[in-house]
Amino acid sequence: MLCKKIIPFSYCFTKSVRRSFHVSGNPNYEKPDSAKCVNTNNTVKPPRILITGGLGQLGTECAKLLRRNYGNENVILTDIIKPTKESLENGPFIFADILDFKGLQKIVVDYRIDWLIHFSALLSAVGEQNVPLAVRVNIEGMHNVIELAKQYKLRIFIPSTIGAFGPDSPRNPTPNITVQRPRTIYGVSKVHAELLGEYYHHRFGLDFRCLRFPGVISCDPPGGGTTDYAVAVFHEGLLNKRYECYLEPHTRLPMIYIEDCLSALFQFLNTPDELLRRRVYNVTAMSFTPEELFSELFKHIPDLKITYKPDKRQYIAENWPQVFDDSEARRDWGWRHKYDLERLVKSMVRDVSINFLPKHRLKEVNSYV
Ligand SMILES: NC(=O)c1ccc[n+]([C@@H]2O[C@H](COP(=O)([O-])OP(=O)(O)OC[C@H]3O[C@@H](n4cnc5c(N)ncnc54)[C@H](O)[C@@H]3O)[C@@H](O)[C@H]2O)c1
Repeated sequence: MLCKKIIPFSYCFTKSVRRSFHVSGNPNYEKPDSAKCVNTNNTVKPPRILITGGLGQLGTECAKLLRRNYGNENVILTDIIKPTKESLENGPFIFADILDFKGLQKIVVDYRIDWLIHFSALLSAVGEQNVPLAVRVNIEGMHNVIELAKQYKLRIFIPSTIGAFGPDSPRNPTPNITVQRPRTIYGVSKVHAELLGEYYHHRFGLDFRCLRFPGVISCDPPGGGTTDYAVAVFHEGLLNKRYECYLEPHTRLPMIYIEDCLSALFQFLNTPDELLRRRVYNVTAMSFTPEELFSELFKHIPDLKITYKPDKRQYIAENWPQVFDDSEARRDWGWRHKYDLERLVKSMVRDVSINFLPKHRLKEVNSYV
């Protein structure tokens, strides 16, 4: 799977990032990394990282990648849901509710945390079903982690999303800086996080970093977002040879394969501060419609039957970017994607068939709204 392809942590990790994460040849990447912690005997030690919401779609794979690079004990996975046996075996796991400031504070102190990766959130479709809870988790929870990062001088990464844009934004392409005004509580909370993070950076010198991800495609079950169809079709298609899509066939959205998404995150976290002209960057890999994805998938599952039954997620998708402009990330810190549609489909068919299909069934993906 993904992490087998990532080379282990080395003390010259900016070089290893360049090799395994297809980073461009900008000579500045060889500069000393401000993120490295230097001991009194002048050796470099890896950062200690706390991940919130770590048992979700992104957290699980992200923890594997970071543990390969920085050591199992240096990555503390937290969530409020019950971990699998595998999650417990691979490194420290702690219960942590992001609404509990003191609980988080204790983890930061006890484990001497340097970086905080904040993944806890209610995603777009789930957020619309329970707005008060989304406000608490996505806004109050974010207030807790950002305040903690300020107090303890942590580097903090908070992902944003294509959902941070709305019907007034240019949709094809959507530039890094433009009108936002989203129409979901998820989007509103993400714009709030972007602005508060930038404010804390300028006002208090907080090392806040944020990438706006498009729909992330991986073989792990998705968390209730509007782009989930692009994961569900692989599970349902391989298992049952049929899939009912909740978006119209022509609905174009930006997407990224998990390996590229985590490459971007890893590379961005390790980019020296002086190269960052912004704290918030768009990143993407491709844009496709359900129709285009399914026609690529027919090459692998020729007897796949597709039907369409659009639901409320169609409205959300119609107000989101169709094509994401990530040229500023490519210019400033050398972001490059590796997976296009053809390669993505090939990898997903392989990953779902080998790693997921024999063990699980994805029942709930089509029933969020
Ligand atoms: N998956 C995507 O396509 C995508 C795209 C863009 C941005 N993002 C962002 O990336 C982050 C992770 O996304 P994901 O897909 O892994 O989401 P997910 O829904 O799979 O995981 C979120 C996790 O947060 C946890 N959580 C919920 N309430 C919590 C609380 N009170 N305290 C602690 N943890 C809590 C959940 O248990 C869950 O494991 C989110 O912030 C999301 O907005 C994801």
